[in-house]
Amino acid sequence: MRLDKFVCDALGVTRREATQLLRSGDVTVNEVKKKSGSFQVTDDCVVEWQDRVLKRIGPRYIMLHKPEGFVCSHEDGHNQTAFVLLDEVKMADLHFAGRLDVDTTGLLLITDDGQWSHRITSPKHKCEKTYRVWLDDAIQPDYAQKLAEGVELRNEREPTKPAVMEIVDESQNELLLTITEGKYHQVKRMFAALGNKVERLHRERIGKIVLDESLDLGEYRYLTQEEVESIWN
Ligand code: URA
Repeated sequence: MRLDKFVCDALGVTRREATQLLRSGDVTVNEVKKKSGSFQVTDDCVVEWQDRVLKRIGPRYIMLHKPEGFVCSHEDGHNQTAFVLLDEVKMADLHFAGRLDVDTTGLLLITDDGQWSHRITSPKHKCEKTYRVWLDDAIQPDYAQKLAEGVELRNEREPTKPAVMEIVDESQNELLLTITEGKYHQVKRMFAALGNKVERLHRERIGKIVLDESLDLGEYRYLTQEEVESIWN
């Protein structure tokens, strides 16, 4: 990678600012002053700026326990974006790997790696997402079979892909639903198609990545290497 790009990523500055920093002579590579932005930084290079070792920012992989009341887009006038819950630099590089509705809680993945998030969101890869669902009305005996066969959603040409339903607590109308798609309001629309209504929705799992129980609502942590790589398997 070019040295000016490396400095941009490490310090969160623009290309022009990086060029100025290089010109000022404060950047060294393996203890040798480097002023040219085109210098190629390799894995064995130690890049320092004012005696501080620089590490490139990213790629970043974050798990956030999303609370209610935050949107997975830009602020909408009523609600803040879930991005305000992150204390990160270079926020503009980050995006959500699969959105949640404003009133849905749970596992939200955030990254600056477009290929990685594509693997999660592209229907082609059939990445499983598990939701804990509380319904308004009783769970009917035929729900599991209907969801496994696929239900017709309004304004969609094809029925939903097979989904797996598991009852958690019948008296509370509580269940787990695993789907491999991510259509707009998908879970709510699936239960609407069955004549019921989702009262509360919480995402627990994406692929093999499970929401960390030690994270309170609004808290986040970086994914482990194993969690990151699990998306490719
Ligand atoms: N399905 C929904 O209906 N809402 C969500 O937030 C996620 C999945």
